[in-house]
Amino acid sequence: MPNLLVINSSSAGEQSVSRQLVAAAVATVQRADPGVAVVRRELGDDPVPHLVRDTLAGVRGVASTPAEHAARALSDTLIAELRAADTVIIGAPMYNFSLPTTLRAWLDHVIRAGETFSYSEAGPKGLLEGKRVIVIESRGGLYSEGPGQIADFQEPYLRHLLGFIGLTDVTFVHAEKIGFGPEARAAAIEGAEARLAEILGKGLVAA
Ligand SMILES: Cc1cc2nc3c(=O)[nH]c(=O)nc-3n(C[C@H](O)[C@H](O)[C@H](O)COP(=O)(O)O)c2cc1C
Repeated sequence: MPNLLVINSSSAGEQSVSRQLVAAAVATVQRADPGVAVVRRELGDDPVPHLVRDTLAGVRGVASTPAEHAARALSDTLIAELRAADTVIIGAPMYNFSLPTTLRAWLDHVIRAGETFSYSEAGPKGLLEGKRVIVIESRGGLYSEGPGQIADFQEPYLRHLLGFIGLTDVTFVHAEKIGFGPEARAAAIEGAEARLAEILGKGLVAA
């Protein structure tokens, strides 16, 4: 039975375009693979905390205080969810030309030395293998072509972070020009839904 990890990072609740597209993607997968096991993280509703002075050592050091142990336990849980997944679907809005901090806080907990990456004389090595990732990016403007491309600090950054931990099979699906009016918004959603049906219509195993 395939395992699917679903991560939403929009803070816009039911108004969120990426959440709507993630839901469509999951429904497509479930139609093709009714037995798929789905684990969800709704980061916009139930955020992973920022790493702060009280918690940092739990993830990037040696945990000794209760707060540090709690941060480490959360990091362990999030990494276990990621390891168990065959496929990961991430809803990633563009916020200020990059990732929402909700997604960044999740990444801060799963990018962990000795667990998801290692360093050797040969350089860094990602420790996750054999997973497929689909990232659905909703954006107010247009960044996949034209003059806006130079301001896309979202996709190259996320591609690098995922690759750093061994997630190299990544497909990006765009819903752009969401802020250009209702027609542009509807066309973007329709285009992204069609692309998701193309990618996931045969299910996760066949994909
Ligand atoms: C805090 C915030 C920052 C944003 N920054 C950008 C931006 O830098 N560039 C852009 O094109 N759109 C930006 N937008 C618009 C969103 O990318 C757009 O509304 C998108 O649909 C959000 O995804 P969602 O609908 O899944 O929440 C921003 C929206 C918010 C709420």
